[in-house]
Amino acid sequence: MDKFVIRGGNPLVGTIRVSGAKNAALPAMAAAILTDEPVILENIPDVRDIETERKLLVSMGAEVELGYGRAHHRTTISCRSLINPEAAYEVVKTMRASTLVLGPLVARMKRARVSMPGGCAIGARPIDLHIKGLEKLGVTITQEHGYIEASAERLRGGHIIFDKITVTGTEDLMMAATLAEGETVMENCAREPEVSDLAGLLNKMGACITGAGTAKIRIQGVSTLHGARHRIIPDRIEAGTFVIAAALTGGDLIVSNCEPTHLGALLEKLQKCGVKIASNGESVRVVAPASLRAADISTEEYPGFPTDMQAQYMALATQAEGSSVITENIFENRFMHAQELARMGANIRVEGSRALVRGKTPLSGAAVQCSDLRASASLVIAALVAEGETILDRVYHIDRGYERIEEKLRGVGAQIRRIGEILPKKAAAPVGVA
Ligand code: EPU
Repeated sequence: MDKFVIRGGNPLVGTIRVSGAKNAALPAMAAAILTDEPVILENIPDVRDIETERKLLVSMGAEVELGYGRAHHRTTISCRSLINPEAAYEVVKTMRASTLVLGPLVARMKRARVSMPGGCAIGARPIDLHIKGLEKLGVTITQEHGYIEASAERLRGGHIIFDKITVTGTEDLMMAATLAEGETVMENCAREPEVSDLAGLLNKMGACITGAGTAKIRIQGVSTLHGARHRIIPDRIEAGTFVIAAALTGGDLIVSNCEPTHLGALLEKLQKCGVKIASNGESVRVVAPASLRAADISTEEYPGFPTDMQAQYMALATQAEGSSVITENIFENRFMHAQELARMGANIRVEGSRALVRGKTPLSGAAVQCSDLRASASLVIAALVAEGETILDRVYHIDRGYERIEEKLRGVGAQIRRIGEILPKKAAAPVGVA
């Protein structure tokens, strides 16, 4: 199992490039199920979840070419001859976003069999809203032996009001409704940029969707969709992670190839903390202040402060002067990083959905463990300001959603290297040169 060895103390300086958004690429790949023509997706991030989705599509009979290079990160997916409309437990347990194939499969193949995801490190994460929505579109659903079995001769348009805002739920049902007979109206939808990106792709494929990016989406069903070429939006969470890392390390960093308008709530909050931010069309320059000021955050659905940035913000709060209250409203168990940050010297008290961070406390290197993707990112950036060496275990969590983060950070001055196993201290290569 890979580990990161990180030595803190270097400010991040230079330019760091953002990859394509994992959470936009995953539904886009699932959308390819809706047509028998090839779908070409560009700006696909080279992360483990994409490989997992590739395997899932291949197991169904899809042909998936996936290529990464200097100029292109591209996949071509052809679902001409799907034979097995199933997402098995082995895949779904490693990547919950696998449930995104449910809607497209039943819309195109008339049936689907998808494993129930079960809970995970950040919360219970049920998919009842996907199921209720599909039933509204005329799908018959049964649940047996941990699997959801869905079937419908032809989906019919319906009126769906989400009880709670759900990102992949909105995406799953939007995909299903494209091939339904008649109009579907969905209310209380997620307004995340990833939803709008998916709608953009589906419309290129011949769908008729309006309102994506607002709470009310209308979909006029069509009988078939065709192939398309689409460029995935930049990853706003990866961008935000680099922005925080620069602010925390006393850096001066340009985060390039991003979409600053997708980072609004985060950038506004960081300015309250004293961070200087300048953005243009596709990059953000971050200049850290001499001293960071504390500010409270409360996670919300887009355009509010993203839950996927909460852990990284907590790392920053440990180095801000004063107390910060961090309230997590989206997931019930998303503070696993707090105890690891405390091992590095942070003063954090967690009570239910709130964490009180008292800063500024010096951090020092420690052996810490990743528990989920964003928690891991927070530990990496905390280690960048900690005195001494941090050894971060279970970095496979970070590899799920960050493309070669250690290479990118090393390129702007961080001392971080990946090791396959811990070597005896004397034999270890100097940090930063591996
Ligand atoms: N929920 C339900 N029932 C449902 C669906 C959701 O109760 O049927 C609840 C969830 O338990 C949660 C809330 O609704 O409390 C919001 O969950 P949502 O469905 O929006 O989350 P998701 O679609 O499973 C996506 C991202 C997550 C991100 C959340 C929130 C993808 C592939 N995943 O998950 O990303 O945290 O939205 O913004 O898009 C990550 O990248 O690290 C990550 C976890």
